Amino acid sequence: MDDHQFALLLAHMKYSWQGFRKVRKGVKKRVVRHMQEIGCRDIDAYLQRISVDKAVRAECERVMTVSISRFFRDRQMWEILEARVLPDLVKRDGSAVRVWFAGCAGGEELYSFRILWENFVAGYKTAPQLTLIATDLNPANLERAKIGCYPGGSLREVDERFKASWFAQKKKNEYAIAPCLQEGISWQVHDLITDPPPGEAFDIVFMRNNLLTYFQAEMIQKSIERVAGALAPDGFLIIGAKEEMPEAGEVFFRQWDRCIYRKKGCQTLPQPLPIGC
Ligand SMILES: C[S@@+](CC[C@H](N)C(=O)[O-])C[C@H]1O[C@@H](n2cnc3c(N)ncnc32)[C@H](O)[C@@H]1O
Repeated sequence: MDDHQFALLLAHMKYSWQGFRKVRKGVKKRVVRHMQEIGCRDIDAYLQRISVDKAVRAECERVMTVSISRFFRDRQMWEILEARVLPDLVKRDGSAVRVWFAGCAGGEELYSFRILWENFVAGYKTAPQLTLIATDLNPANLERAKIGCYPGGSLREVDERFKASWFAQKKKNEYAIAPCLQEGISWQVHDLITDPPPGEAFDIVFMRNNLLTYFQAEMIQKSIERVAGALAPDGFLIIGAKEEMPEAGEVFFRQWDRCIYRKKGCQTLPQPLPIGC
């Protein structure tokens, strides 16, 4: 598959060329394998099948997912979280702290958060409960996350003291996450583009390196609106360090610190149009 054919596929799926540019080699390989499996000889035949067969389209979406992640990716964001976000959340009494990891890949981001949280609350007499919901379009990623075994490379940004306490080395290049970090997590297959959020009143939504990187702007608008609706007032939305908040998102979020945004107060959000407009 050449770049021109790949660009046709991206345009058809409303994916962003810029987002896929660096990872296109691997994605092309998986798409070509899928084309062969379903007997499509060229890109035109494939686009035709995607247009008429929902299951083929869904499989195409899955093979095109990019699952690159690692623990504590973008260290600075995690430092801000620890210094400025957790101190407030931990003081809350009563209700649980609710966090949604949208597009969680193999769970690296979720487990990073949990490690940070467990370490942080160890210094307090009491701490609120955590409700963790992790979603991804690709069920294979969720299965990997549940197993919780990772190559050494995905731990390269993990602080040595965390590494010793929260990981067990299984083989030369394989580390298993501490089983207590895996308790009580809700893992769900979920499509950010089409599905309603997996809950509401989230204190934090991690939506890093997926929607805003891989999709065209027109696909993003509705999803951003739904994510905003799923956040508690003043809740935090965290996007990737190299991602930009699109105009459609600026209506709902204000930048708080680097790639950490906060939901705007209800009075500043646009009012729904009166019925009949
Ligand atoms: C590059 S990984 C990012 C993982 C993690 N958020 C991080 O930043 O390290 C992108 C993840 O988004 C998922 N994804 C892609 N499209 C999605 C969609 N429409 N709905 C939900 N998840 C999606 C992919 O399966 C993949 O696991």
